[in-house]
Amino acid sequence: MDATKLERAVQALDHAQLVVAATGAGMSKESGVPTFREAQEGLWARYNPEELASPHGFRRDPARVWGWYNYRRGIVARSSPHAGHEALAKLEKLVPQVAVVTQNIDGYHREAGSSTVLELHGNINRFKCFEHDHPVDIEIPLATGDGPVEPPRCPRCGSHVRPDVVWFGEMLPPGVFERAESLARSCDVMLVVGTSGFVYPAAALPLAARVGGATLIEVNTQPSQLTEVMDIFLQGPAGDVLSALVAGLAARRSGSGHA
Ligand code: APR
Repeated sequence: MDATKLERAVQALDHAQLVVAATGAGMSKESGVPTFREAQEGLWARYNPEELASPHGFRRDPARVWGWYNYRRGIVARSSPHAGHEALAKLEKLVPQVAVVTQNIDGYHREAGSSTVLELHGNINRFKCFEHDHPVDIEIPLATGDGPVEPPRCPRCGSHVRPDVVWFGEMLPPGVFERAESLARSCDVMLVVGTSGFVYPAAALPLAARVGGATLIEVNTQPSQLTEVMDIFLQGPAGDVLSALVAGLAARRSGSGHA
């Protein structure tokens, strides 16, 4: 990690009133949560992603899709937030306002203690019914095994239960992107962590922040589609880099008597 760049990033955070962290799959990497495609191994490798994550795929074979999400929920349940998630939660003690906007569906930012988390693509541990989007607020235990599983039924209408995540061809949850965009436009610093910048509209958020005059700081193990619009690129794993950033800010504050 480049010490000069890190120091510049700490300085930017030191002056910020509002920091937005925009996170993608790379954020969950060190927790051991594979990306959608990486998780498609074993018996799941033979399906195309739309068969596992689209309304059409669910209608055709609800047990296959529910089984796929049961398998992925198992991975999320066996893993946990890492030091990078915790660092973002700690940042709330050092900056007046922090918001996390994530493409991840694992819920780790909230679990680590971040209080404002906008989940653009939903949450794998929240459920709704397939036909009417009725929220299904019941405990749904993980099924054993990694194969197809018959989904439960909505207690209200009897249609199948599905995960409350955004599938191929679906709109983002109403209002969530608008809120994220407005935060992006008004933030002073945007931390763009572990995203390749290929998936829209999430990838538009750094551009909105740029227009709003924010300092853009990217944390990624390698350059991404977004690197060229960044002010500072911090190359390295999210856990190490975010921990170093927040520790640097805390040290700066205690050094200058602001802690
Ligand atoms: N720390 C930081 N960055 C990392 C790490 C790490 N430990 N490991 C990988 N990365 C970076 C990669 O270099 C890459 O740029 O994380 C990025 C992951 O890119 P994608 O897998 O394309 O993830 P993302 O941008 O979130 O887009 C995937 O598909 O399934 C959907 O909802 C999902 O919107 C998401 C999209």
